[in-house]
Amino acid sequence: MPVPLALAAPVAVAGLAYVNAKTQLSQDLRSLRSGLAAHSRGLSREKKGMLNEFYKLEDHAQGKLANKPFLMFEGRTWTYKEVYETVLRYGQWLKNVHNVKPKEIVALDFMNGPNFLFIWFGLWSIGAKPAFINYNLSDKALAHCIRVSKTKLVLVDADVQQNVTEDVKAALPGVTCVVFSSDLEADALSTAGVREPNECRREDKLRGLAILIYTSGTTGLPKPAVVSWMKMDVAPEHISRLMGFQPKDILYTCMPLYHSSAAVLGVGTALAAGGTIAIGKKFSTKTFWQEVRASNSTIIQYVGETCRYLLSAPPNIDPVTGENLDKKNDVRLAFGNGLRPEVWNRFKERFGIEGIAEFYAATEAPGGFFNLSNNDFGKGAIGRQGLLASLLMGRDTVIVEVDWETEQPWRDPKTGLCKAVTPGSPGEALFRLEPNDIPSKFQGYFGNKSSTESKIMRDVLKKGDAWFRTGDMLSLDSDGRMFFSDRIGDTFRWKSENVSTNEVSECIGEHPGVDEANVFGVELPHHDGRAGCAALVLSEPASQQLLLSLAQHVQQKLPRFAIPLFLRLTKEMQRTGTNKQQKHVMRAEGVDPKKVGSDDIYWLRNGTYVKFTDKEWAEVNGGSVKL
Ligand SMILES: *[C@@H]1O[C@H](CO)[C@@H](O)[C@H](O)[C@H]1NC(C)=O
Ligand SMILES: *[C@@H]1O[C@H](CO)[C@@H](O)[C@H](O)[C@H]1NC(C)=O
Ligand SMILES: *[C@@H]1O[C@H](CO)[C@@H](O)[C@H](O)[C@H]1NC(C)=O
Ligand SMILES: *[C@@H]1O[C@H](CO)[C@@H](O)[C@H](O)[C@H]1NC(C)=O
Ligand SMILES: *[C@@H]1O[C@H](CO)[C@@H](O)[C@H](O)[C@H]1NC(C)=O
Ligand SMILES: *[C@@H]1O[C@H](CO)[C@@H](O)[C@H](O)[C@H]1NC(C)=O
Repeated sequence: MPVPLALAAPVAVAGLAYVNAKTQLSQDLRSLRSGLAAHSRGLSREKKGMLNEFYKLEDHAQGKLANKPFLMFEGRTWTYKEVYETVLRYGQWLKNVHNVKPKEIVALDFMNGPNFLFIWFGLWSIGAKPAFINYNLSDKALAHCIRVSKTKLVLVDADVQQNVTEDVKAALPGVTCVVFSSDLEADALSTAGVREPNECRREDKLRGLAILIYTSGTTGLPKPAVVSWMKMDVAPEHISRLMGFQPKDILYTCMPLYHSSAAVLGVGTALAAGGTIAIGKKFSTKTFWQEVRASNSTIIQYVGETCRYLLSAPPNIDPVTGENLDKKNDVRLAFGNGLRPEVWNRFKERFGIEGIAEFYAATEAPGGFFNLSNNDFGKGAIGRQGLLASLLMGRDTVIVEVDWETEQPWRDPKTGLCKAVTPGSPGEALFRLEPNDIPSKFQGYFGNKSSTESKIMRDVLKKGDAWFRTGDMLSLDSDGRMFFSDRIGDTFRWKSENVSTNEVSECIGEHPGVDEANVFGVELPHHDGRAGCAALVLSEPASQQLLLSLAQHVQQKLPRFAIPLFLRLTKEMQRTGTNKQQKHVMRAEGVDPKKVGSDDIYWLRNGTYVKFTDKEWAEVNGGSVKL
């Protein structure tokens, strides 16, 4: 029995907890079996030195699935065989023209499209590795990301070349920037494909580097996380099984391929299942369903507020027949992370989608949670854990109390150790690491020991242990449902209470007049802590009636200290490339009406929200108003 082995294993089994409501035991078993199978195949590939997704592509291209579509993009389809042959050509082009050697890292600054995939797998085919650069970056951040990958070569999508300016190039001595024009594409496509011997791509460590993917910290520069073969090769196999991903399934994603959601959980799971990946160039409510229908996709991927934006878009109407096309799709499952509970059911109903698979993970984290749901029991849960899973895997995850003064896990002054929360209470989620062999589970940030160390905590439950800090507040209820509470650093204190921005924005988001809410705490002169401010995108103009109704809603539903004292009405929420909300800019701007551009600030007075202008700001500043 490989069980003890699996218990010692990283990602696939250790962190991934999954269970279903009524049948927790059978789900646990299914998850364990799938994790074990994925992991033992991973170990066997490790032994043979064949840990490279290139081999999965090759197996499909030379097997039963050879003529099955693997990739779809804007009306074009490539079979497994076609992708494989193209990848060999691109690999040779990289080797011959750019002298790319095995183990070298090459940076890709590309938008979503077939070339992204061809170059990525082309590099793997010759034993080299890609670093995925966020194509939205420019200036210092762009130069930084390229520099820390230690590459000598950057391939740049013709569509984003404007951002690779002379200044950026000057900041990168010794790095060659190549714009991948249509001429170069033609060159690559006409290069003779050669299948290099296995020796050139020998990979015999699950912890070895497969891809560099940058984590986008809310502040500071992006950090290059080492995505290991464990994550790239083993985890997608496990997850594709949990999702029931079949070869006949088509997964549509328009999330950026430079992030791990689309790359590891999108492309990775499709390849693991022998299914199809349909790629959208970028997210747009106008093209989303059109592309889903045109590709006959059966699974869609979301991140952040994607589903909310799809919900607030007008119905899809057939221009010829006038028919409402909202439910005209073959989608059986939406999977991703960040779906808010108040959106979950409305999304399922409007678009006729049966299942939601909500997961929790971070690019660099050694574990994750996964929750597949076809009913209401798990609504909003990011993970589920049954009894069996808790017994076997519980020891690898812990939720500990947090000291809000320091925003660090709280330590008992007597023992110096942390304290697990009682079930149902939120705390920081930690994943267990091997104290004497950290890289076996957490490979950290490329070439950056201090950043890597900052994610590790020692002496947590007992002297000598080591854990990975997620920076996220989660709670696990007695039914084994895991919920997201807040990001540490987002929670703020007001009147000596701790306010979870996520909980408040979920509550406001339930109001029918609100399309989107983003909550944060703002500093006020002459006040301790931070006062709650909700940035809102409304679904209708801000009438007195709506403002009163909003005030009544929050006063009814929230404890006094959590009620947002301010509203910031905005036309469009600032967001990241993966549709996640930005808080830090608005938090820094606060509620000074001069600093918020064309947005309007309101505050809670006498039971309703009224305009907060320069005059009121002056009063707060003068100290004549106490909140
Ligand atoms: C260039 O960078 C800016 C700012 O970083 C970004 O908004 C823009 O989308 C980028 N342009 C392209 C063509 O990618
Ligand atoms: C999608 O399905 C329809 C109907 O079965 C079919 O006519 C069409 O060719 C399919 N589209 C693709 C891209 O396979
Ligand atoms: C808020 O955090 C502080 C500091 O960590 C803690 O002492 C206090 O109990 C918390 N308050 C609530 C209501 O949870
Ligand atoms: C490591 O990361 C930190 C924080 O992002 C950064 O300030 C530092 O310059 C990095 N060090 C190296 C060697 O890249
Ligand atoms: C990223 O760039 C694309 C293309 O230039 C643009 O449409 C998009 O709005 C940008 N996204 C962000 C988050 O800047
Ligand atoms: C609130 O009501 C009180 C008395 O009912 C009144 O004196 C005060 O001016 C009102 N404040 C505002 C901001 O309307």
